[in-house]
Amino acid sequence: MTGQPTALISGANRGIGAAVARRLAQDGWALSLGMRDPVLPDFADPDRTHLFAYDATAKSEAAWVAETMARFGRIDAIVANAGIMIPKSVIEAEDDELDTMLAVNVKAPRRLVKAAFEPLAESGRGRVIILASLSGKRVKSEKSGLYAMTKFAAVALAHGIRQAGYHRGIRATAVCPSFVATDMARALTDRDEASLTDPSELADVIAMLIGLSNTASVAEFAVNCQLEEQY
Ligand SMILES: NC(=O)c1ccc[n+]([C@@H]2O[C@H](COP(=O)([O-])OP(=O)(O)OC[C@H]3O[C@@H](n4cnc5c(N)ncnc54)[C@H](OP(=O)(O)O)[C@@H]3O)[C@@H](O)[C@H]2O)c1
Repeated sequence: MTGQPTALISGANRGIGAAVARRLAQDGWALSLGMRDPVLPDFADPDRTHLFAYDATAKSEAAWVAETMARFGRIDAIVANAGIMIPKSVIEAEDDELDTMLAVNVKAPRRLVKAAFEPLAESGRGRVIILASLSGKRVKSEKSGLYAMTKFAAVALAHGIRQAGYHRGIRATAVCPSFVATDMARALTDRDEASLTDPSELADVIAMLIGLSNTASVAEFAVNCQLEEQY
C-alpha cells in the first residue's frame, strides 16, 4: 500500500481519545480525528491530520470514512472511543436514557467499523479498538448498571468484529479500563487523581495492541487502577 498508516479516532478532543491521538501522532500515524467541535490539537502535524465534525448521533460515519479515504487513501486502524456514561441504576433509568447511551456507545461504533470495513481489510492488518470498560465485564455498583448494559454490548461488538474480519486480517480488541483520569471519571469518583489510570498509559496500551501482528490477536484487554476480586 502507498501512503502512511492512517487511524480514525472518535472523541479525539479530550480524555482518552486525545491521549491516543497524541501517542499515534508521535508514532508517525496519519490521523483522522472525529470531534464534535473540531480543533487541530497542538501536537498534531496539519499535513498528517484530518479533522471531521463527528457527532455519534448524526449517522455520519460513511461520510467520515469517505473524507478520510479521499485525504489519505487508506484506513489501517479505528479507535472507537467516544462514549457517554449516565449514572443510573437499571431500575431508575428511563428508556430514552438507555437509547441515548446505546446510540453513542454501541450503535455508532458499529456503523463506523461497518463503513470502514473494506479499507481495513485492504490494509491486510486492519485494527479496531473498541473503548469498552470494565463495566463491560462486571456490574460493580447500582449506579453503573445502565452503563454496564451498553458496555457489555460494546465488548460483544468487538468480538463480533473480530469474528467478521479475522480472515481478512482485521483484529479487534475490547479495551476495558476501570477509572481513567478524565472528565468522565472525575464526575463519578472523588478518588485522588493520582490513583486513577493515566490516559497516556492507556494510550500506550492501545498503541501496543494496534502494533501487534496478525498472529497475536487480543480479544479483550482489561486494565484496573485498583484491586478487585477479578481483573
Ligand atoms: N474515564 C474512565 O474512567 C473510563 C473507564 C472505562 C471506559 N471509558 C470509556 O472510554 C471512552 C473515553 O472516555 P473518556 O474517559 O475519555 O471520557 P470523556 O473525558 O468524558 O470524553 C468523552 C469523549 O467522547 C466524546 N463524545 C461524547 N458524546 C459524543 C457524541 N455524541 N458524538 C461524538 N463524540 C462524543 C466527547 O466529546 P465532547 O468533548 O464533544 O463532549 C469526548 O471527546 C468512553 O467510551 C468511555 O465510556 C472511560
